[in-house]
Amino acid sequence: MKKLLVCTGGGDCPGLNAVIRGIFKAAKKTKEWEVYGSIEAFNGVMAEPPFLIKLKKSNVGGIHVKGGTILKTTNKGNPLQFPVQDENGDIVFEDRTEALAEKIKSLGFDAVINIGGDGSQKISNALFKLGVPIIGVPKTIDNDLSATDTTFGFQTAVQIATDSFDKLVTTAESHHRVMIMEVMGRDAGWIALHTAIAGGAEVCLIPEIPYDINKVKAKIDSRYEKGRGFVNIVIAEGAKSRGGEVVGSVRETVSEHLRLGGVAFQLSHELKAAGCKPEIRETVLGHIQRGGTPMAYDRVLATMFGVKAFELVQEQRFGQMVSFKNNDYTAVSLEEAVKDYNFVDPNGFLVKAAKAMGMSFGD
Ligand code: F6P
Repeated sequence: MKKLLVCTGGGDCPGLNAVIRGIFKAAKKTKEWEVYGSIEAFNGVMAEPPFLIKLKKSNVGGIHVKGGTILKTTNKGNPLQFPVQDENGDIVFEDRTEALAEKIKSLGFDAVINIGGDGSQKISNALFKLGVPIIGVPKTIDNDLSATDTTFGFQTAVQIATDSFDKLVTTAESHHRVMIMEVMGRDAGWIALHTAIAGGAEVCLIPEIPYDINKVKAKIDSRYEKGRGFVNIVIAEGAKSRGGEVVGSVRETVSEHLRLGGVAFQLSHELKAAGCKPEIRETVLGHIQRGGTPMAYDRVLATMFGVKAFELVQEQRFGQMVSFKNNDYTAVSLEEAVKDYNFVDPNGFLVKAAKAMGMSFGD
């Protein structure tokens, strides 16, 4: 039997389990492959003894409806920048990819499928260059990967955010308040923009369009002057004012990422300082957007990604990442896949259409 290793890296995302199940089922059908999962991304491979589980019908059956990942995950311990303590006790980062590639080979794996976002696919690419037969599967609720038109998890996140937005509208209306809802997305405004359009927000603030606080205030004032008496704002966690900084940028010592969050409160302060009179309340949705059951669309996309990834393994098309482009399940090279991000185009149709609907971006 040939041995296939699967792992999930980076933040969890609704649909990860559906990908794992898709890979497992497609592999099982061939009767040629055994499938193993590395627990907590590649940490399971590096652990001594390795922390791997064999995937079986008993632990994979029915998992497509569950959020999270049965293989666990982490966005710390990136082998390209592995945090270690130096002799002074300070954290320094070292490249452990070679050691990881050697370990994967020594464990006798014939193929690896790495499910993760941009950071994980950079690891996939580095491992591929070191001779590891690897396939990538894109994952992110942020929709910020340019090599695929969409990823599983995004639609679920937007639906959760929209349901929450709808609830905030009724309370905003009842209290004549300004409600600010902060959503995830890191440096991309996709979740915010889709939620704002779906929910009918009056204001949408995204990282790609730095806002002018006076323009946001003017929009609020005009709503109150017209007697509408309430305003709902969606703000992406990575949004910033013109000339301002992103909020919550605490660089964690064991992660290369900046942790965003709190921009809703900053906007609230800025509005009050600019003389905004109505009562303002802030809601930070946070990890609720990544949790729970994946919606049907994401289950389908994730299942197709899993089956496609295994197809690429069978065809020995290593060094590729599965992609959904122009309504087709296809593949791109990992090199291509990690090149560019996918950001909202401030001059694109989505923003234009939202403006045509009367939405303000504070620009
Ligand atoms: O990339 C997915 C994401 O949920 C971002 O939208 C968010 O900024 C980040 O991960 C949060 O990461 P963590 O789970 O480490 O707080």
